[in-house]
Amino acid sequence: MPFNPDRYKDMPYRRCGRSGLMLPPIALGLWHNFGGKADHDTCRAMLRTAFDLGVTHFDLANNYGPPPGAAEERFGRILQEDFSAHRDELIISTKAGYYMWPGPYGDWGSRKYLIASIDQSLKRMGLDYVDIFYSHRPDPNTPMEETLGALEQIVRQGKALYAGISSYNGAQYVKAAETVARHDWAPITIHQPVYNMLNRWVEHDLLDYTEAYGAGVAVFSPLAQGILTSKYLDPSRTVPEQSRAADPDSFLNADALTPELLDKVRRLAKIAERRGQTMAQMALSWVLRDPRVTTAIIGARTPAQIEDCVGCVKNVKFDGDELREIDEILAS
Ligand SMILES: NC(=O)c1ccc[n+]([C@@H]2O[C@H](COP(=O)([O-])OP(=O)(O)OC[C@H]3O[C@@H](n4cnc5c(N)ncnc54)[C@H](OP(=O)(O)O)[C@@H]3O)[C@@H](O)[C@H]2O)c1
Repeated sequence: MPFNPDRYKDMPYRRCGRSGLMLPPIALGLWHNFGGKADHDTCRAMLRTAFDLGVTHFDLANNYGPPPGAAEERFGRILQEDFSAHRDELIISTKAGYYMWPGPYGDWGSRKYLIASIDQSLKRMGLDYVDIFYSHRPDPNTPMEETLGALEQIVRQGKALYAGISSYNGAQYVKAAETVARHDWAPITIHQPVYNMLNRWVEHDLLDYTEAYGAGVAVFSPLAQGILTSKYLDPSRTVPEQSRAADPDSFLNADALTPELLDKVRRLAKIAERRGQTMAQMALSWVLRDPRVTTAIIGARTPAQIEDCVGCVKNVKFDGDELREIDEILAS
């Protein structure tokens, strides 16, 4: 089936920092729901729906599954099935930094690990290159120059077009940006931190720095893994069967869904309603209200969730009263 010919019309692409790269404000991540147990047709439908809506950026990592590597394998299969004529319209990212294989070379940030891992990722996805390759987390025991030198090598070899880092704090990011500038290495084009209404660390420790050094920002878990949606708000049934909180393989523990937290989300959902948005849409618009945030990387289990999320791009502006009310609820 052909893709929607109007897919680029309504998506307000944003420039990634001061680079030439444009990204959709909503990107799709494959951390969950694309592993070995996932339903292949649903995975295909999610990727097709996203692309039909103008979502050109798909975010992976070597270890996404389960089992680790399974999401890249499935994504590679779907690329062949549906996207072979569209590779040049896609921004595909992957990462290395968390445990991937046994022994001392399958984890953290050594040159050995990153170089071996990108080769494995390319093979699993059947790609010649990825668009963005990330150091998935800072490694306190490897010199930063070694990790960044590996990113430089990967870019110079044409295995990735852009270098990124994920979950580095402000000081670590500044050190990384200055290190690559000093060596004239591939710049850190993009930073991938967690950011959502419940976790606002980037506001005081990152966004001023990424702006100053010219990197874009792809925020992950903008819905706090589904907490910032209406998913858990039905008082008669707080944890639906089809949810991350009910999945023993996920990192969202049902214990995190306290009555106090759900009460806050209920109050936030009222503001969303006034704005004519779903709760998920408002949570996404809220992270995108800051132009220094280039894209929000969502996760999804159904095509309908993706459609709902992408709807947020119609309104990412908040007035002062709305922002104050949201801050008050979050601080309560
Ligand atoms: N760099 C890193 O270290 C790192 C870490 C984590 C994530 N990431 C990246 O960020 C991506 C997104 O992370 P995330 O999956 O935690 O993001 P998220 O968008 O905060 O949560 C996704 C979950 O929210 C629920 N959801 C999504 N849209 C919804 C809607 N419209 N209505 C109701 N519920 C909705 C779904 O939960 P249910 O499944 O319960 O339906 C979905 O699985 C990952 O795939 C990955 O690419 C990177």
